[in-house]
Amino acid sequence: MFVIQIDQLTSELHERIASAGGLAALEAVRVIALGKQGTVTALLKTLGAMSPEQRQVEGPRIQALREVVTTAIASRKAAIDAADLDRRLATEALDMTLPVDAAPRGTVHPVSQVMDELAEIFADLGFAVAEGPEIEDDWHNFSALNIPDHHPARAMHDTFYIEEAGSLPMAHVHEDGEVRRRMLLRTHTSPVQIRTMMTQAPPIRIIAPGRTYRSDSDATHTPMFHQVEGLVIDRGIHMGHLKWTLETFLKAFFETDDIHLRLRPSYFPFTEPSAEVDVGYTMEKGRRVIGGADGFLEVLGSGMVHPKVIAACGLDPDEYQGFAFGCGIDRLAMLKYGMDDLRAFFDGDLRWLRHYGFAALSVPTLSGGVGA
Ligand code: PHE
Repeated sequence: MFVIQIDQLTSELHERIASAGGLAALEAVRVIALGKQGTVTALLKTLGAMSPEQRQVEGPRIQALREVVTTAIASRKAAIDAADLDRRLATEALDMTLPVDAAPRGTVHPVSQVMDELAEIFADLGFAVAEGPEIEDDWHNFSALNIPDHHPARAMHDTFYIEEAGSLPMAHVHEDGEVRRRMLLRTHTSPVQIRTMMTQAPPIRIIAPGRTYRSDSDATHTPMFHQVEGLVIDRGIHMGHLKWTLETFLKAFFETDDIHLRLRPSYFPFTEPSAEVDVGYTMEKGRRVIGGADGFLEVLGSGMVHPKVIAACGLDPDEYQGFAFGCGIDRLAMLKYGMDDLRAFFDGDLRWLRHYGFAALSVPTLSGGVGA
């Protein structure tokens, strides 16, 4: 009698489960079968009144029925959920292809454009972008770069110092015993060399573009200007690596293979040997255009990182060598895009920005021509 009843109940419940069209209908079937008053529950209750022999036979069958029904309901629920999700995906889709409002709302400043181009070019050569603070301390900006106190090179930099309570202490011991270093606006991006070497293990390959400050103002100098620092530290680095890197960078930046470099011996306290780098230009319609070699323009300072600088950062100069360079970004922008007065860069004149600015959505890429 039980066998028949269980078989019937099984097929009946399977049918109901299969035809449940939604979660509510499925829940109703669950209550009918497994709820307190449910048919399967009622069968389970009959076990109590059976003789032990009968229970041994019927018990497993009824339990099996309960499991079959539970599993069937769970898989039906999964199917209904999946169908539900499909329906929602089909109807609630967000159209990501709607055109953006391409009306020009503003332009990218040539300095930002050139910084993006630099990051793009040097990323391709395996360089990361590093940063440092614009309000720097004396040690990072000068001392660690082998420019000791009272060194004449400090005077060359026309530094903006930050006055502390009306005095200009170099470095002084504060009441609490802490050594305070004199603060200033960084005069170059070279302190990022120090900050990078102090926090990263070689091999190091970074560029550090950013704002720099010197008390200086005329058609080619503004009190705030931009530099990009380059630094490579590894074993066995020599001037050949420096020259190749600069040549590759200038070819990509000025988008010509006709690049001629001239390395002139020079002096920086933090490099030895040091070289100022000139790049060849030709005259086109009264304008200097980079490429060819009718004349030469100085574009950057460079050299092999001084062993004292490497040691000041806690690295062994017998093990590690490197090169560094520093280059004016504003100058690069003027040469590439033909502006002639540096001061206009920072006037915020919208007419100038509309004329020289770049479309906000066209990010420079090497494959597309960085300045395209
Ligand atoms: N920091 C130097 C300057 O501002 C440029 C430079 C950087 C030279 C790195 C050599 C190496 O004039």
